[in-house]
Amino acid sequence: MTGTTSKVLSTTFGTTPAGEIITEYQLQNASGSFVKIINFGGIITQLHVPDKNGQLADVVLGFDNLEPYLEKSPYFGAIIGRYGNRIANACFQLRGQHYSLATNNGANNLHGGPIGFDKRVWQAETFIDAKGQGLRLHLLSQDGDQGFPGNLQVTVTYQFTDDNELIVDYFATTDQTTLVNLTQHSYFNLAARGDILQHQMQIFADRIVDINNVQIPLGGLMRVENTPFDFRTPKTIGKDINQSHSQIANGVGYDHTFVINQSAYKVMTLAARVTEPSSGRVLEVLTEEPGVQFYSGNFLDGSLTGKGTTYHHRTGFCLEPQHYPDSPNQTEFPSTILNPGEEYKTKTIFRFSV
Ligand code: GLA
Repeated sequence: MTGTTSKVLSTTFGTTPAGEIITEYQLQNASGSFVKIINFGGIITQLHVPDKNGQLADVVLGFDNLEPYLEKSPYFGAIIGRYGNRIANACFQLRGQHYSLATNNGANNLHGGPIGFDKRVWQAETFIDAKGQGLRLHLLSQDGDQGFPGNLQVTVTYQFTDDNELIVDYFATTDQTTLVNLTQHSYFNLAARGDILQHQMQIFADRIVDINNVQIPLGGLMRVENTPFDFRTPKTIGKDINQSHSQIANGVGYDHTFVINQSAYKVMTLAARVTEPSSGRVLEVLTEEPGVQFYSGNFLDGSLTGKGTTYHHRTGFCLEPQHYPDSPNQTEFPSTILNPGEEYKTKTIFRFSV
């Protein structure tokens, strides 16, 4: 028995202002757990996994229909590209040439720009193999898109296994030297209600990328010991979030890239484990990326509602595996450059259990 139902279910989710029909796909596994994904932004709209009593609940933040995703979403569930997090002053040099990007975060470029991959319509194709039901999404980001050079062909593949693993595979090629740093921006709440401050967080990182007060890297890395950023042994997200520390102030809470303790660059590594005591749900994030952005939902302020819930301050957290912020302008950071003839390939797994 493969454990998968024979067909990936899909329904119409909405229509963009340009008249494109957006479809919602449901990837379901043998136990009945499922994830819903739309081909607008590659957004995960729902993710239902069991608690310790076998009760399914939706553990991601999101909206009921397309309209709020078009304009006001704080990247709920989306694929982020071409460049996750910030590029300082929205510019960089590549091969001796200067490039200016579209700005959308003061002077900076955030998450690829105002029309990042989270706001694009992707071509979608479903599949089923021995591992489970899948959705393959494809996008062409044209030369000059948001200011980035090169035609970038991008494929992101989601697959949901019988072990409640959501596997995200990223692939890209270019016809000119460019930058790529893709990630997944789901906001999780493993209790499916309330704030996330009682979730037990563990992040396997000795250092973070420390940032200034507009969240641009200071240039080095900061050791976590004796700081609120020490999650090497589990502690609640809330425990030290209000401590007086310059990095907590600069991030308005946790909004930092943690440098994952990896045996080698690009080796699949357990980056973080989150446990929610009341439901017993556990999320593990494994990745080949060198960093994971831990964002504690600091900018949620109760102004957004979706799926019957109001999204108050810190009612969701993100763990976004990616390269470090502003790498194009930081010579010491691992490179995010992609050349013609090379393949950008990286994988992240969101693994749910109890
Ligand atoms: C990322 C950024 C944050 C914020 C959120 C979405 O995590 O680092 O500063 O933009 O996305 O609001």
